[in-house]
Amino acid sequence: MFKEKIDIQRLPQHVSVIMDGNGRWAKQKGLLRAFGHEEGTKAVRDVVEGCAELGVKFLTLYAFSTENWNRPKREVDTLMRLLVNSLKKEIKTLTENNIKLNAIGNIDSLPKKAQKELKEVIDKTAGNERMVLTLALSYGSREELIHVVKDLCEKVKNEELSLDAIDESIINQHLYTQNLPDVDLLIRTSGEQRISNFLLWQIAYAELYFTNILWPDFRRENLYEAIYNYQTRERRFGKTSEQIS
Ligand code: IPE
Ligand code: IPE
Ligand code: MG
Repeated sequence: MFKEKIDIQRLPQHVSVIMDGNGRWAKQKGLLRAFGHEEGTKAVRDVVEGCAELGVKFLTLYAFSTENWNRPKREVDTLMRLLVNSLKKEIKTLTENNIKLNAIGNIDSLPKKAQKELKEVIDKTAGNERMVLTLALSYGSREELIHVVKDLCEKVKNEELSLDAIDESIINQHLYTQNLPDVDLLIRTSGEQRISNFLLWQIAYAELYFTNILWPDFRRENLYEAIYNYQTRERRFGKTSEQIS
């Protein structure tokens, strides 16, 4: 049992997850990929509740990447339909657990129905304070950085901002994640050990945790194990071990 081993005083403030392996989970069972995505929503609910109960303040889930648009149309449609259905269903979980929903990514590129549902749940949960749940939808870190560069150029051109004023904090303020702290712990399921265009700037000093578990099988006990593992690490931020202790 990992939960008892977790030091509640030293929780990661911001946990993010690359939820991967839905397709392989389905394939192993001889099912269509869509079943894997559907089963994955159960893992989402468990991890969201698990994080909120522990006291994690920010949870960010990679649900759909800019590159995922290149999948077969049928699969994209399934994912968008699941998104709308989950939002409809999970508003209850979010409200009961006092969780605020947030979204990052090129939200305008989502189907109108998904945008409408998303906006509704974001508005309804805007006053919730226990945890911020951010869904990365049509999200790509490079696309986000292009958006930042364009914004900043525009402001410099209009003399709203001077070139010398551009620093880390200005960049943070222009990212989709402007209201979120840096990621402390990044979890990726399914055994792949790559970042796949997720939060490149924001994970500069995150602790990375990879597990072979496929996303539909991931449950809060696995989350506890990841957090416990995170707590066994020494985060030095470039300093020496002696400076830290
Ligand atoms: C993650 O599972 C869900 C999304 C990327 C939308 P995958 O669909 O990538 O599953 P695998 O990697 O093919 O097993
Ligand atoms: C990353 O998973 C995107 C999400 C989990 C939403 P992918 O399955 O798309 O990543 P690659 O293609 O294996 O790198
Ligand atoms: Mg995948």
